[in-house]
Amino acid sequence: MADAVISPEAPTSPEHVSIFRKDYREPDWWVPEVRLDLALDPAATRVRALLKVVRNGDHPRPLRLAGDGLKPLSVTVDGEPARWTLDGDDLVIDMDRDRAEIATEVEISPEANSQLMGLYASGGILCTQCESEGFRRITFHPDRPDVLGVYTVRMSADKARFPILLANGNKVAEGDGDGGTHWAEWHDPFPKPSYLFALVAGDLAANRDRFRTFSGREVELAVWVREKDLPKTDHAMASLKAAMQWDEEVYGREYDLDLFSIVAVDDFNFGAMENKGLNIFNSRYVLADQNTATDADFDAIAGVVAHEYFHNWSGDRVTCRDWFQLSLKEGFTVFRDQSFSADMGSEAVKRIDDVRLLRAIQFPEDAGPLAHPIRPESYIEITNFYTATVYNKGAEVIRMMKTMLGPDKFRAGSDLYFKRHDGTAATCEDFVKAMEDASGVDLSQFRLWYSQAGTPKIGARLERDGDAAVLKLSQVVPDTPGQSGKQPMVIPLKTALIGRDSGAMLGEERLVLLRDSQAEVRFEGISETPLLSINRDFSAPVVMDVTRQAGELERLAACDNNAFARYEAGQELMLRSLIAGAKGEAIDPWPVIDAVRRTLTSNELDAAFKGEALTLPSESLIGDRMEVVDPDAIHESREALRRAIGEALAGELAEAQAMGAPGNDLSPHAKGIRKLKSVTLALFAAGNPARGAALAKAQYDAADNMTDRQGALAVLASLDGADREAAFADFYQRYQGDTLTLDKWFMLQAIAQRSDTVDAVERLAGHADFTLKNPNRWRALVGSFAANQWAFHEASGRGYRFLADRIIEVDRLNPQVAARQVPPLGRWRRLEPGRAEMMRAELERIVATPGLSKDVFEQASKSLA
Ligand code: TRP
Ligand code: ZN
Repeated sequence: MADAVISPEAPTSPEHVSIFRKDYREPDWWVPEVRLDLALDPAATRVRALLKVVRNGDHPRPLRLAGDGLKPLSVTVDGEPARWTLDGDDLVIDMDRDRAEIATEVEISPEANSQLMGLYASGGILCTQCESEGFRRITFHPDRPDVLGVYTVRMSADKARFPILLANGNKVAEGDGDGGTHWAEWHDPFPKPSYLFALVAGDLAANRDRFRTFSGREVELAVWVREKDLPKTDHAMASLKAAMQWDEEVYGREYDLDLFSIVAVDDFNFGAMENKGLNIFNSRYVLADQNTATDADFDAIAGVVAHEYFHNWSGDRVTCRDWFQLSLKEGFTVFRDQSFSADMGSEAVKRIDDVRLLRAIQFPEDAGPLAHPIRPESYIEITNFYTATVYNKGAEVIRMMKTMLGPDKFRAGSDLYFKRHDGTAATCEDFVKAMEDASGVDLSQFRLWYSQAGTPKIGARLERDGDAAVLKLSQVVPDTPGQSGKQPMVIPLKTALIGRDSGAMLGEERLVLLRDSQAEVRFEGISETPLLSINRDFSAPVVMDVTRQAGELERLAACDNNAFARYEAGQELMLRSLIAGAKGEAIDPWPVIDAVRRTLTSNELDAAFKGEALTLPSESLIGDRMEVVDPDAIHESREALRRAIGEALAGELAEAQAMGAPGNDLSPHAKGIRKLKSVTLALFAAGNPARGAALAKAQYDAADNMTDRQGALAVLASLDGADREAAFADFYQRYQGDTLTLDKWFMLQAIAQRSDTVDAVERLAGHADFTLKNPNRWRALVGSFAANQWAFHEASGRGYRFLADRIIEVDRLNPQVAARQVPPLGRWRRLEPGRAEMMRAELERIVATPGLSKDVFEQASKSLA
């Protein structure tokens, strides 16, 4: 304090300002070296930082260091008291020299940190989360991803409470201190941006293993958890080793430090974080055993462990120049983890899952008020841009490049990208340029995928012309907020013609590149009536509007040799029926029933695929295909079709449900059988609720694994009667104290298809085990409910009020978590006028709330616009 020359004033900076991509400038100062010394204590942690700073170029500007809620206790320049001021939260230091050592000292309180950004406490563990702008909550620093430095971190803490002290890189020294404390010093030789800084202190135990890289270096691996959770870490460790191996084989990427650690914490805003050498995970993406985790949970763990590991190259070694480039690391890394998971299991089923997620979350985003390109042009709060668009559409964009270049040139492009930009902060443009330079393929027009938002709509119609067939294509890229009159994009469409009678391919699959608003493609030598199989493997993230002849979808659903396209034909067949039903048209369920029967009883299809194909399109997906969403009509239509299938195929469904696989068998085959078991149970119950409930209760009671148990409980959740109550009571008793599993108990009640679900969630929000402080628990109840279309859109408007109340409540503690639940209210334009008005009113109430965070302000105000 004595060092202060100019005393800080209350911040006057305007609130909620937008940052624009076009305004990017290089930093005024570099910070090539950072030394931190932390005296860790949950209530009050002292942070001393020593920054080596170097003026970037010739300019007179002061050194501006970002802070967030920090008060400087001392600031020196080369050991002398500094001339400094606070501008809002930023520390601004007068600089009369071009390089200097800046020392600052602050005090922070991890246990008072409810935002879970910066240094915080979770279940007795102290840990950090710095992406995107959390480092500035720990110490003053430019805290922008293009400022890379080498970090040395010394920390001390009470030895009994915090026996394990971890940070990025390698441990270089340790020892005991006074009063029962100990200390450790860590050094990370790789220059990194501040958002990759991490530190953990706690009473942790490790599952340890080793990995030998392709050049023969030995890497120590550790998965750190609380002692009691050690038995649940084997799958995460196995996934990590598989991911390391895969990245060597598929991308030629080798790990670069002597140690790689994963730490699991219970309170975490997102899935996990790729801090260099020290990944910190939401415990739900680490902990699993057959009794508490479903097969989907196991797969998610493998996917997230791989994702974070892959970031070591796509994110850490090559990072982002600024946050507008987020998709550079996230889109690419999601693509890499998707490919990894496909290679570990079934490629077709993985693709179906990924596309389902894209359609459920990204397509609505692209069609709504928050639409943005994968490389956004502006933001108020960057955390709001960790979206399905940046991540999942971003991954689709990378996938399209691979499809267009072919695997070898794509790999050459990836190699060139890593070689050129290793150790630097790069842009999306750098990535595309590397792909272009390595392949010789011109990607000029393709770059529009980075700048234009909105899901392209592709029209397709096949016409016969003698013994040729002509494919007539069109594309429209819809207007989105702030963007209209868009240019046509490059749309890579894997296309094949299939003989209607023979069911065989008529010629080879072709990659059609649609570049204009309209195009025609000729297929010569077509001797048989052709069926159009297009956008095979979902080669482009677009909405297809294909003109079909009667019977065409049925035929494709039975014989298309592209698994994804075959699935798609079946889904489209269902969708058409569901939409017609929702519009009140009389529908004939038999084409769907017959298609379902053929799939279910097929000898060539595997169980996992059947499980996907037998899952009806969701109510929100049906709504996305309609002009005006009437949630009740959609629900009734879908339930009617499920009932018709359940009644007509009761015998076949019961037979598939009777199959099973031992819970400890995690092979793709066993997972497929379990998936089909619960999917068929649900359909059976739709046809016969009373017998369905009994069958579900029996499956619940007999389960030796969580997949079967949760699958049964999910069916019971939507039924009435004593079996339901008994199963929920049992589940609660059985897993009390097991936080992750209790999340399922909340989630299953929030997604129940019942007319009293709003009552249930209101009651559960008052349950002793509900807490606003744990993001997983909050999402299990509130997030799940907001995704339950029928219940959320209850005509009374109570669902909207419930969500808005919870958002306002949690915003005071954790704005990031609050802001992520605003988008469901933002869909008001799609709803009938009565509901739309109530949704708007809730958004207005949110925006008018005093003291609202900029996170929620941005989402809610943009949703109203
Ligand atoms: N970079 C992380 C990932 O994709 C995402 C993440 C983890 C994150 N924690 C966060 C993003 C907190 C914003 C805020 O793997
Ligand atoms: Zn990521």
